[in-house]
Amino acid sequence: MSDALPRETALLDDLGDWRRTHSCGQLTKAAIGQTVTLMGWAQYRRDHGGLIFIDLRDRKGLTQVVFSPDDAPAAHDKAHDLRVEYVLAITGLVRARPEGMVNPNMATGEIEVVVSDFKLLNTAATPAFPIEDRTDAAESLRLKYRYLDLRRPKLAANFLARHKASMSVRRYLDALGFLEVETPILTKSTPEGARDFLVPSRVNQGSFYALPQSPQLFKQMLMMSGMDRYYQIVRCFRDEDLRADRQPEFTQIDIEMSFVDEAQVMEMAEGMVMGIFRDAAGVELPSPFPRMTYATAIADYGLDKPDIRFDLKLKDVTHVVRESGFRVFAKAELVKGLRVPGGGELSRKEIDDLTEYVKIYGAQGLAWIKIKPGEWQSPFAKFLSEAERDGLARELSLEEGDIVFFQAGPADMVNTALGYLRLKLGERFNLIPEGAYAPVWITDFPLFEYDPEAKRFVARHHPFTSAAPGHLDILENEPEKALARAYDLVLNGYEIGGGSIRIHTPEAQRRMFAALGLDEAETSEKFGFFLRALEHGTPPHGGIAFGLDRIIMLLCGSKSIRDVIAFPKTQKAACLLTDAPNTVAPGQLRELGIKTRKKEE
Ligand code: AMO
Ligand code: AMP
Repeated sequence: MSDALPRETALLDDLGDWRRTHSCGQLTKAAIGQTVTLMGWAQYRRDHGGLIFIDLRDRKGLTQVVFSPDDAPAAHDKAHDLRVEYVLAITGLVRARPEGMVNPNMATGEIEVVVSDFKLLNTAATPAFPIEDRTDAAESLRLKYRYLDLRRPKLAANFLARHKASMSVRRYLDALGFLEVETPILTKSTPEGARDFLVPSRVNQGSFYALPQSPQLFKQMLMMSGMDRYYQIVRCFRDEDLRADRQPEFTQIDIEMSFVDEAQVMEMAEGMVMGIFRDAAGVELPSPFPRMTYATAIADYGLDKPDIRFDLKLKDVTHVVRESGFRVFAKAELVKGLRVPGGGELSRKEIDDLTEYVKIYGAQGLAWIKIKPGEWQSPFAKFLSEAERDGLARELSLEEGDIVFFQAGPADMVNTALGYLRLKLGERFNLIPEGAYAPVWITDFPLFEYDPEAKRFVARHHPFTSAAPGHLDILENEPEKALARAYDLVLNGYEIGGGSIRIHTPEAQRRMFAALGLDEAETSEKFGFFLRALEHGTPPHGGIAFGLDRIIMLLCGSKSIRDVIAFPKTQKAACLLTDAPNTVAPGQLRELGIKTRKKEE
């Protein structure tokens, strides 16, 4: 017999003889006539005349169970007390649903289970929001009650996909002879361009560990150790500004190989990514993945992570308008146009919104021309000469009905602003085919980029990346011209992975540190251990790391990385479920030799 309600009883009790025979997503017509035992959560309760219906839910699905006063009066009687999210075990007979009650949208929609007995395993507080795929609950509320959020089938499905992806990676790499090796979490700072999370040491007061931004140096030292092929599905930590596709802790599929060049790493990686999509989403990616140089990506798409699912390209028109009467264009370092066929339908309000949008990327405005029958409609076309109009029409292949947007100014700003504007317009004009995946390798990256804050060149990838053949010699004199043996894999406009062939001689590594402005003392303090390791017979090696969360986000069709991380953090790097980060007891700080200051206003 089923237990009565007092919560204490339910908590003290155990499962007794109850054993689950099936999941809630499993039963079909084939099971009709069988007696089964299911366990799960009460999703809905409906009282219909004499009958009580409950949809019982577990990770695998829903099964309709029926409490009938005729078949099992005692169970039926107690079922009146059941509430949403109560945890139950039920046993009963599988039968066909009556004519007209079949639900074709449900895997178990042809059957129901007539309860002969049930046991209440636990009660539940009223959930803060209904456990349904379609929810309008605020994300902050869902994160606070993340365990409820994860009961929603749509979210739970993301974790099944994530599991399948990890399994696929392990099978694939194992078959290719890779070893999974763990590297330290309490370690020394490795520069990947973000701030470190620091952990104070109690036994060495005043000293700090850094949480790894990546296992970069350790995986290289594993190559020096003769491991030959390494991988790790590993947590990395970066204290950086968060966005929809960035978390302070995230997971890399981290890979390193000895005695290889770019082509071999890319071939291995391509097979792995294809396997992930096949095994976790049933998607066959187009193969081989196309390749594009960094220079082409910037020229045509404005960004080094081009979304090539749609074909709208930027066009350099600097030479056409260099001497323009339009003050904004004249003398600008770069002027680019973006023609949108049929874009003439955009309203003034929409154009104003787009103008505000590009300002996020440092633009001061957004110039535009609508090509109307017999005239150009534009706030500035009156400043253009006949020759400039002809030149623009020719260069941009302008046609009636088009709109063309222009950005003028410093090259980086122009490319970034128009690159993101392009993405916005791709959405606005539905240029992105539903369900399309467009991977592309980006190659021939610059080795350095100028950091205006630090007022010096920094490594674009990281300082362990090899220069392109012959480019080591231009490091010191023309750093902006040096190319790297680096490659990124971009999917639908997201950078999902990046890697390089590494420097493997101490001389080249020293030159790299020097080119980055590190003096002898700094080099040996920060990287002495690594330079010493390089001196002990380092094989040529290279590798790559993938952002697992981003890959899963894309294959689940989600817009936020938070949907594929079980317990993610907010944009402000907080965990709303546990309230981390939080203050600690004064004694804990004293032990660490740490004094906190009042937050400066
Ligand atoms: P990189 O810094 O490009 O390379 O990182 C590799 C991949 O990790 C993902 N990623 C992130 N995902 C979520 N949140 C973040 N904050 C975040 N930061 C990065 C991206 C990125 O492509 N050691 C090198 C790899 C190598 O050279 O082998 C590295 O870490 O998808
Ligand atoms: P102004 O003369 O500043 O009013 O600008 C004239 C037009 O050019 C407006 O439509 C601005 O939005 C646009 N504009 C201003 N700065 C830029 C720029 N750097 N690139 C492209 N268009 C701009």
